[in-house]
Amino acid sequence: MVNAKISGVGGYIPEKVYDNAYMESIVDTNDEWITRRTGIKERHISADNEYTTDMATIAGKRAIENAGLTAEDIDLILLATVTPDYFTPACSCIVQHNLGAINAAAFDYNAACSGFVTGLTIAKQFIQTGTYKNVLVICADVLSKATDYKDRATCVLFGDAAGAAVVSASEERGIISTDIGADGSSGLAITSLAYRDDEEETEKRVSRKKDTIWMAGQAVMKFAVKAMADASQRVIDEAGLTWDDIELVIPHQANYRIVDSAIKRMGISKDKVFLNLEKYGNTSASCIPVALTQAVEQGKIKKGDKIVLVGFGGGLTWGAAVLEW
Ligand code: UT7
Repeated sequence: MVNAKISGVGGYIPEKVYDNAYMESIVDTNDEWITRRTGIKERHISADNEYTTDMATIAGKRAIENAGLTAEDIDLILLATVTPDYFTPACSCIVQHNLGAINAAAFDYNAACSGFVTGLTIAKQFIQTGTYKNVLVICADVLSKATDYKDRATCVLFGDAAGAAVVSASEERGIISTDIGADGSSGLAITSLAYRDDEEETEKRVSRKKDTIWMAGQAVMKFAVKAMADASQRVIDEAGLTWDDIELVIPHQANYRIVDSAIKRMGISKDKVFLNLEKYGNTSASCIPVALTQAVEQGKIKKGDKIVLVGFGGGLTWGAAVLEW
């Protein structure tokens, strides 16, 4: 059977920065609290007229170039977002047009922060069945446009970014194993409302704006640590490997404490973990592909290395993968 391998990666980070000093100026918080409880120092924020598809187009273009392909080589565009430009058309269709990917089918999906590993899992199926040769997986979010800047418990966490990867048919091993899952019974731990009229949910928001993000932070943190450790172990077992075989782990960049507790549970050293959350905060599904792109650019991943990607998020969902680079 043909394998699915990442052949190119790309990211995009908007220019504007909200540092902790700026957060101190808008809510009752301080640099010491944010740093100690999350590890975040800065987050990048999209311009007023910059939206998910604008950022996704740039990240997608960079990933295609990095793969040495052209837009016309792409057979399918998968786009993960919780902050779409429109409910319809799908962001992926707008990006298809922007890129000139005239041969690509396109659809959006929502697995919140677990979007990248979910996208790799979908791409792998289409490639292994021989349906497609090149699938572009893009994660993009303008979380700042859905953030309640009156809620100090959430507004210090989020930033904006886009990250992308081309997954191509290959004889090399590539994406060895993936594990995605959901616990819908805890779904209301992170919410942002669309059409549903839910007064109870709306009332939880400091701003009372129903399309902003609300979160039960402690509950999500507890879920995240176990979900990340368990899913990583399952993909490593399925790959027939042990933690000693893994050169690098790229986790969802939500909170330093979550990552720290999860890696203690996994029993691995911090040196194996790639973190950039200090500079960007939590950018939802984009966290992992942006970090992966930077790890590649910084020479932290060499051909043949085995790496683990692992995330969790709204839904609640999780996703982990073992890749051979
Ligand atoms: O992508 C997936 C999405 N979600 C996540 O990854 C988030 C998971 N959760 C978390 O990262 C953490 O729960 C938070 C960082 C959100 C909060 O940290 P925590 O250790 O769970 O704090 P807490 O909610 O228990 O709050 C502790 C105290 C509270 O004050 P009292 O009640 O002890 O007086 C909060 O009101 O900290 C207060 N607090 C703040 N203080 C200063 C909450 N936010 C802030 C803030 N600055 N920004």
